[in-house]
Amino acid sequence: MTDSPRSPFDLSLGLVQRPRRNRKTDWARRLVRENVLTANDLIWPIFVVEGENVRTPVASMPEVERLSVDQAVAAAQKAADLSIPALALFPYTEPDLRDPNGSEALNPENLVCRACRAIKQAVPQIGLITDAALDPYTSHGHDGVMEGETILNDETVAILVEQALNQARAGADVIAPSDMMDGRIGAIRAGLDSEGFDDVQIMAYSAKYASAFYGPFRDAIGTKAVLVGDKRTYQMDPANSDEALREVALDLEQGADMVMVKPGLPYLDIIRRVKDRFAIPTFAYQVSGEYAMIKAAALNGWLDGDKAMLESLLAFKRAGANGILTYFAPKAAEMLKKSA
Ligand code: PBG
Repeated sequence: MTDSPRSPFDLSLGLVQRPRRNRKTDWARRLVRENVLTANDLIWPIFVVEGENVRTPVASMPEVERLSVDQAVAAAQKAADLSIPALALFPYTEPDLRDPNGSEALNPENLVCRACRAIKQAVPQIGLITDAALDPYTSHGHDGVMEGETILNDETVAILVEQALNQARAGADVIAPSDMMDGRIGAIRAGLDSEGFDDVQIMAYSAKYASAFYGPFRDAIGTKAVLVGDKRTYQMDPANSDEALREVALDLEQGADMVMVKPGLPYLDIIRRVKDRFAIPTFAYQVSGEYAMIKAAALNGWLDGDKAMLESLLAFKRAGANGILTYFAPKAAEMLKKSA
């Protein structure tokens, strides 16, 4: 070391490499910033409920409410005003409409379909993403139909195709299968194309893990109380990473336009691997439990909630995500607008 006059380890000779120089001022930090979060990166998941002028709070998700269709239209207007590109719709289905086969999913007058038509008419410029999965509609809370304790794959896929068609006919722009059945992307693609919905996109929940972080969502759509057992026979094992690449590859082969990793922050490594391997539009879902954690800490005064929110969202961009489904979407977009 001593024979080098500018050894970086010899402080008496002065450091050549000083990364702090680029952090010294606000302008320099902005100049070297590698990733940016904008409203264009946000997808806002909203919960729809029966009624008129209804907004019911979700206890485990502070500041999130279930919205009746008219209020969902207002939310869509707000999203458009904030330049949020798209909404993802999830229904709270009344218990008496749930059955073992989730047949309400195929009702052209179900909540999601009515919300799609109303929003499309009032706010045509916003993207509408609907979820293909049966859990909001089944009496047992699973994403598919059951025989005994088993979730049947192919029988479920056949219903999901009908569900996707029902949503596309109501005006959904993007079908997002969140069910994790094998082969559903190809089947839904074929179904959509056979009815002339060639332009309806598919955002596949490709790497969806069997996660404890979905708890508050199940509260919001009313499946928590009814869910029998867990979803580990179809959602992925949190221990696995190579398997996520296999799931993404399969979904792309079958026609997925965009893929998703879910949950979000605990799975940033998966987002990075997917993005590096496939270089395709890749989305992250910052799920209900992640939202609840940040909110709960903020409400206790343990965290600066706004800063933690923006930092968590930026982390998705750094990991390679093209966009984020997040319940923070309107709040984040408002803050980004103010700082722009
Ligand atoms: C189910 C579905 C879930 C979420 C979206 N779609 C939960 C589950 O698999 O039980 C979770 C979203 C969230 O937690 O915010 N098809």
